[in-house]
Amino acid sequence: MKKIMMLLVMAAMTISALADEGMWIPMLLGRNEADMQRAGMRITAKDIYDINHACLKDAILLFNQGCTGEYVSSEGLFLTNHHCGYSYITKYSTVEHDYLTRGFWAKSREEEIPCQGLTATRLVRMEDVTAQVLDGVTPETSESERAAIIERNIKAITDRAEDGTHYKAVIKPFYYGNQYFMYINEVFTDVRLVGAPPSNIGKFGGDTDNWMWPRHTGDFSMFRVYADENNLPANYSKANRPYKPLKHLEISLDGVKEGDFTFVFGYPGTTQRYVTSDAVELMANVENPIRIALRTIRLNHYKNAMEKSPAQRLKYASKVASVANYWKKWQGETEGINRMKGVEKKRDFEQKYQQWANDKPQYYNVLPQLHEAYSEMGPIEIELIYYSEGARASDFMLRAQKYSQLANEEDFMKIIGVVNRLKEDNDKYFEDFDQHTIVDRAIFIETFLYLWEAGHAPYLNEKTGTKVAVEQKLGKIYDESLLNNKKKLKAFLDDYTAKSAGKLKKDPAVDLFNKAYALAHDPQKIAKYKKTNQDIQNLMRIYVKGMMEMQPQVNFFPDANLTLRVAYGHIEGFNSFDGAHYEPFSDLKGIMDKENPDIYDYVVEDKLKSLYALKDYGPYGIVTNINDSTIEETSDGYLVRYNRKTLKDMPVCFIATNHTTGGNSGSPVLNADGRLIGINFDRCWEGTMSDLLFDPNYCRNICLDIRYCLFIIDKFADAGHLIKEMTLVSSK
Ligand code: ARG
Ligand code: ASP
Repeated sequence: MKKIMMLLVMAAMTISALADEGMWIPMLLGRNEADMQRAGMRITAKDIYDINHACLKDAILLFNQGCTGEYVSSEGLFLTNHHCGYSYITKYSTVEHDYLTRGFWAKSREEEIPCQGLTATRLVRMEDVTAQVLDGVTPETSESERAAIIERNIKAITDRAEDGTHYKAVIKPFYYGNQYFMYINEVFTDVRLVGAPPSNIGKFGGDTDNWMWPRHTGDFSMFRVYADENNLPANYSKANRPYKPLKHLEISLDGVKEGDFTFVFGYPGTTQRYVTSDAVELMANVENPIRIALRTIRLNHYKNAMEKSPAQRLKYASKVASVANYWKKWQGETEGINRMKGVEKKRDFEQKYQQWANDKPQYYNVLPQLHEAYSEMGPIEIELIYYSEGARASDFMLRAQKYSQLANEEDFMKIIGVVNRLKEDNDKYFEDFDQHTIVDRAIFIETFLYLWEAGHAPYLNEKTGTKVAVEQKLGKIYDESLLNNKKKLKAFLDDYTAKSAGKLKKDPAVDLFNKAYALAHDPQKIAKYKKTNQDIQNLMRIYVKGMMEMQPQVNFFPDANLTLRVAYGHIEGFNSFDGAHYEPFSDLKGIMDKENPDIYDYVVEDKLKSLYALKDYGPYGIVTNINDSTIEETSDGYLVRYNRKTLKDMPVCFIATNHTTGGNSGSPVLNADGRLIGINFDRCWEGTMSDLLFDPNYCRNICLDIRYCLFIIDKFADAGHLIKEMTLVSSK
C-alpha cells in the first residue's frame, strides 16, 4: 500500500513538474485555466486576455523588437530591464552627463528624453486565421505552390485588417505552419527615457554574474509613452501627452514565498522545442563548441586589455558584453543538454514515433528525410560558423570585408559614398591604433590559426604547412596590409578611382578575407543550404503534426516566435550540478558581501551602503518575525548577535520555474492575483538549455524583486514622484 501511495505521489509530482514547461497563447489560455488555478492562480484566463474588456494584456508592450515592458501608471509610465534600455541610456550619455554610470532620473516630464527610433507595441487583439491563410492549399499542393499561396493570402488578409485603421497587422506561423495567427498591433513611436539606476546597480555583477544565480542585479529602467490628443500613436511632438493605457499593473508589496504561483507575460523570441536529435546534437555538440572556442580567444584578449586601464575598459566593455552573453549561454546550454541526456531522450522518442508512423504513409518517411536533410545542411552551416565567428573575429578582417566590398563596387556614385565613410572610420580607428593593434593582431592570428588547425583555412598553407610558418604568414599579412598603414591608406583613399580596385584586391588582407568568404559561400553550397533549410521547415510541419496526432492527450505549446505568451510556474530554488542547494531569494546583504571596490562589476555606491547600514528601506524591506536571536558572521568575519525580531532586509532578486527565453527580458512577473511582483531578466546557467529542452530540476528564470526596484527609485534616487503615479497594493 505504502509503495502504491509513493508511486501515486511520484506520478503526481512529475505531471505538475512538467506543467511548468510551456509558453502559452493568451487567446487560448482557457485551456490552461484549470491547471493554473490548481497551481494557485486566483484570477481567470479572461482577466489575462480578453478583447471585450480591458485586461492584463493591455498593460504589456513589445519594446522595440526584442524586449518586453509593462505599464505601471495611468500616465504611460512603463518598466523594462536596464539591459533593454541600455543602448538609449548610453546614446544620450555624455562625459558631463554620464547617465550610464551615474544613473538618470527625470525630475519632471520636461526632463524626459525622447528616444529616437524606439517603439512600444500594444497587442490590440489576435485571431486564428489558419483557414484563410491555407485557403487554396490541398494535400496535393506542392511545397513551392503552397508557399506562394500562403504569401498571397497573408498579404490579402493583413491588408484587409489594416484597412481604414491605424493598426499594423502581422501573421505568424505556429507549429511550423500547421496553424496561423494574426496579430493586430498599435505601434507607439514617441517613447521617452524617464529613469535608470547607475550601472553598478542596473548591471551589478556585470558579465561575471550574467546567467547566474545567486544574482543581485537591479536590472530595470523606466520609460514613458506619449500619444496625440486622441490618445493615439504619433511621432514625437512637444504637444504630445502621456499615453493613457487601457490598463496598468497593480504592484504588490506583499512579497513572495517559495512555492507561490507566478506567471510571466511577455514576448519570448525563439525556442526550438520539437527539433530532432540530429538538430540537438549538431547545435549542442558541434556548433556550440566551435562558437565557444572562437569567442574564448577574443574574450581573453579583450579582458586582458580591459585590466590595463580605465580607457581600455570603456573601449571594450560593450563589445565584451555582447560577445560574452551568448558565449556563456552556449556553454550552459551544451552542458545542460548533455547532463539531461537530451540527444538520447530525443532518439528514444523518435524510435517510438517511427513505430507509430510505420503504417501511416504521410508520416513514415518524415524522420529519415529529416535525418538526410540535416546531414546535408550541417557541414555547410559549420563552415559558415567558422567564417562568421572565426574569420570575422578581428576588426582587421571586418575592415578587410569593407574594402573588399569597395573593390567590388562598380557604381561610381556609390564608390564616393563608401570611400568617404571609410575615411571617417579610419580617423577613429587610428586614434588608438598602437594599443588596439596589440589586441586585434593577436585575435586575428589566433583565430585563423584555430581555423587552420581545424582544417577550415586550407588557403593558408600553399607551400609550407607548419604552424610556425602559418603564424608568420598571418603576421606578415597583418603588418604589410595597406589597411594598417595610416599614411598610405589615406593617400590611397584620397586618390581612389575605379582603377584602384585592382590594387585593393591584391592587398593581403582583402585577399585573405575573399578566400575565407569564398570557402564558406560557394554558390552551389549556399543554394543547397537554403533549400535544405526550407525542406527542414516543411518536414518539421509534418513531423510536428504527427507528434500531435500520436499524443492527443498532450497540450502542446507552440515554439516562441516573438508573439505574446504566458508562462506559469512557481517560486522555487534548485540543486545545482554539484549538489549545492540554492534558495530562491537574494538580498541586499548579498550585495554587501559581493562588494569589492577593486573589481568593476562589484563596486557599490556609498549611498546604497548607507541605506543598508541604516536599514532605511521604507515600506519595501522585510521584517523577519522570528523571536530568538541568532548569531551571524559578517563579511569581515565578525560574529554578530542579531535580534531576529527587528532584523530587516531588502530583497533583491528571486527565481521561479517559468519557462522564458530571450525577449522575455523586461516581462512582468505576476502573482496569483495578477499583481506585479517582479521583472524578468535572465535565466540560471544550469537551465539555459530550455530553448531546446526544459528540465524542471534546473530551469529557472531570474527576476528582479519589484520591492528592490521601488526602493531604488524611492530611497536611492529620491524619485518618489514616480512612485506616486503607481498603484501599490499591500494586504498587510
Ligand atoms: N543574459 C541576459 C540576456 O540574455 C542579460 C544580458 C545582459 N547583458 C550582459 N552582457 N550582461 O539577455
Ligand atoms: N536575458 C534574456 C533577454 O534579454 C532573457 C533570457 O534569455 O532568459 O531577453
